[in-house]
Amino acid sequence: MRTALLLSLIVLSPGLFGQATFDIEGHRGCRGLRPENTIAAFINAVKLGVNTLEMDMQISKDGKIVISHDAFMGSNICSAPDGKPVTQADEEKLKIYTLTYDEIKKYDCGSRGNAKFPDQQKMSTIKPLLSDVIDTVEKYIAEHHLPPVRYNIETKSTPAGDDINHPKPAVFAKMVYDLIKQKGVINKCIIQSFDPRTLQEIRKIDPNITTALLVENIKGLKANLALLGFNPTIYSPNYMLVNKKLVKECHRMKIQVLPWTVNDEKKMIELKQMGVDGLISDYPDREIKVLR
Ligand code: G3P
Ligand code: CA
Repeated sequence: MRTALLLSLIVLSPGLFGQATFDIEGHRGCRGLRPENTIAAFINAVKLGVNTLEMDMQISKDGKIVISHDAFMGSNICSAPDGKPVTQADEEKLKIYTLTYDEIKKYDCGSRGNAKFPDQQKMSTIKPLLSDVIDTVEKYIAEHHLPPVRYNIETKSTPAGDDINHPKPAVFAKMVYDLIKQKGVINKCIIQSFDPRTLQEIRKIDPNITTALLVENIKGLKANLALLGFNPTIYSPNYMLVNKKLVKECHRMKIQVLPWTVNDEKKMIELKQMGVDGLISDYPDREIKVLR
């Protein structure tokens, strides 16, 4: 039993033991199946057997790391404390950076479902804190004797959003680093961003931290790496930008390739055949079915 557990740890834990296997990542937990970026989605992804949980970070008015893709309460998925759907006109007034977490947790962002993901189970649920996600996932894994998972955590920032939607990069990076250090999960974390600045800042704090540069432009590998100023652990492009040549070039530089967000099973197989090191999908169940 102990040998089996040790083996599963070695095979399924790339962050802890080096890139040992294909990295199956659940996008926003498993957005296709459960409300995005919620504890229900993360636990379901763990149950399915992902290697890594992908999620997005925003900062609240009172300095807490809130898991949310949008910088505001989205009119597409959230309901106000009175139960009424958030309207588009309200969104601007409902920025996470201008609300305390006590205010944020009054919004239900799961009961309405998501029109783009008809298989997503509707349930009353809130935007969680990163600290609660880590505590809940680690507890669940320990109680069920499951292999560890990694946390692919995205700093949602842009130069135009500094001090409006989020703190400046150095502050954002330090807040994230301090929390994952306090939780003892630095070695299980990938810090990912479209914004090179937060990756540069976090690397100043810890040069050994795992970083992933997210890319959705057509500047090319060389230009994107030049903008970043160092080789990240992972190059993470929109899957439509990936081809064999890119994978080969990244691997020559010892950079892993992790495309997003791949929901089509045929495309998943094609990308794996190109040699990518993992995939991020809203449907980790499909990834597991066709790739593992
Ligand atoms: O991690 C990659 C992917 O999540 C980036 O896109 O917009 O879903 O955060 P987005
Ligand atoms: Ca993301």
